[in-house]
Amino acid sequence: MFGRRSSGDVKGRPAAAAAAMPPPSSTAPEPRAAARPAAAPARAPEPARRHSEEYYDVKTTVFNALIDTIDLTQLAKLDGQAAREEIRDIVGEIIQVKNVVMSISEQEELLEDICNDVLGYGPLEPLLARDDIADIMVNGASTTYIEVAGKMQQTGVHFADNQQLMNICQRIVSQVGRRVDEASPICDARLPDGSRVNVIAPPLALDGPALTIRKFKKDRLTLDQLQRYGSITAQAKTILEIIGRVRCNVLISGGTGSGKTTLLNCLTGCIDHDERIITCEDSAELQLQQPHVVRLESRPPNLEGEGEITMRDLVKNCLRMRPERIIVGEVRGPEAFDLLQAMNTGHDGSMGTLHANSPREAISRLESMIMMGGYNLPIRTIREMVSGSIDIIIQASRMRDGSRRVTHITEVLGMEGDTVTLQNLIVYEITGDDANGRILGRHRSTGIARPAFYERAEYYKEQHRLTEALAAAEVTDSTGNPLGDV
Ligand SMILES: Nc1ncnc2c1ncn2[C@@H]1O[C@H](COP(=O)(O)OP(=O)(O)O)[C@@H](O)[C@H]1O
Ligand SMILES: [Mg+2]
Repeated sequence: MFGRRSSGDVKGRPAAAAAAMPPPSSTAPEPRAAARPAAAPARAPEPARRHSEEYYDVKTTVFNALIDTIDLTQLAKLDGQAAREEIRDIVGEIIQVKNVVMSISEQEELLEDICNDVLGYGPLEPLLARDDIADIMVNGASTTYIEVAGKMQQTGVHFADNQQLMNICQRIVSQVGRRVDEASPICDARLPDGSRVNVIAPPLALDGPALTIRKFKKDRLTLDQLQRYGSITAQAKTILEIIGRVRCNVLISGGTGSGKTTLLNCLTGCIDHDERIITCEDSAELQLQQPHVVRLESRPPNLEGEGEITMRDLVKNCLRMRPERIIVGEVRGPEAFDLLQAMNTGHDGSMGTLHANSPREAISRLESMIMMGGYNLPIRTIREMVSGSIDIIIQASRMRDGSRRVTHITEVLGMEGDTVTLQNLIVYEITGDDANGRILGRHRSTGIARPAFYERAEYYKEQHRLTEALAAAEVTDSTGNPLGDV
């Protein structure tokens, strides 16, 4: 039963030891066509180049000589460029002294490899340098997957062994003052570029450390791009723009990686520039373009288990900061209550995302978050609060072909008996698959000509654009009648 654990692979090391050199990556990984970047940025070498055995022998020799020569603590004080220069000089000398015969380009590659191992994230570097990757998933030393354009691909990236991988994990998390080892095997961190990192180490991860990186997108997608990708139609885009502008309270619902944060970011793009916006996030991802934004970020407890600032603390504090809109990156817990209160008390136009698979489920998730927050409110009161606060639920979905789509734009109308009533405005309907297995479908209006937020739209003089977009999104049946809601 314990046979799968690679015992002794991971030793609990203090953060300081993170700087200890990983052994050079000595395996020659198989390059896989699928893992090749379509357009790799200039800095990125091929992720899975196969080198001769000789190259790896030379690398090991040079690497070991370097470690003997170099003062690691001094090196750590230099900035990246200076440290590279230093390593370049020493490696050059070692190559001369050891009489290694190598072409200039081989030398450059060797240097790059060694710098990546010493200063950076080793075999991960080429993947980190690529802008087209959404996620990097390392499952132990010999298996690394990436997600590109919505599709999971296995790469040829290998680590020398689990120890090298663990050292790299350690180096990543020590940058944010944390530690990952047997005693605290789960850790969240962030790379300097904003990418989110999770590490779970043995003994919890049975086959070596599992490292997951959600790469930070320098340029978040825009509504225009979402339209180009077929995630929304022109009409749905117009409707979303209006929803964002006219200060509807919005929940964006969807599964992990379905594009919730992307949609939230797009919606914030429609906010007028004279509004004061406060964002609360667990790790800052939103990129608001408005001039008047205050960004807040929650904080996990430190090593001693102290100093935690929860999302709820942030949202509560936010209310004292005279916000006009509050944007909560992801609503996961009792802060749901405070967000709804804010929405109810003059901060309309507030927004948040939440993990649920349908608009209906989003409502029940909100209810249970509030119930579990210990507020001791009757369920009916909670429902009234939810239905009185939320105007619109936008459902995002990652489809089985890897594409991401908005599948519902739904209004929250009110209560009927004990049930919250919802009304779909736009739904995505799957009509079939094409020859390549891609999903075919259409976004269509459900025939609602005058949505509940019509008056709001009128106030902002957006009512004509709204009715036009809804009408244009209608699909009629053979007798010319709108198809209506499903
Ligand atoms: N409509 C879309 N089409 C293509 N890629 C998308 C789309 N929406 C999001 N993405 C990409 O999917 C990844 C996950 O998106 P994100 O918004 O962070 O998801 P979530 O917040 O639901 O976890 C990101 O890399 C993002 O750029
Ligand atoms: Mg998100």
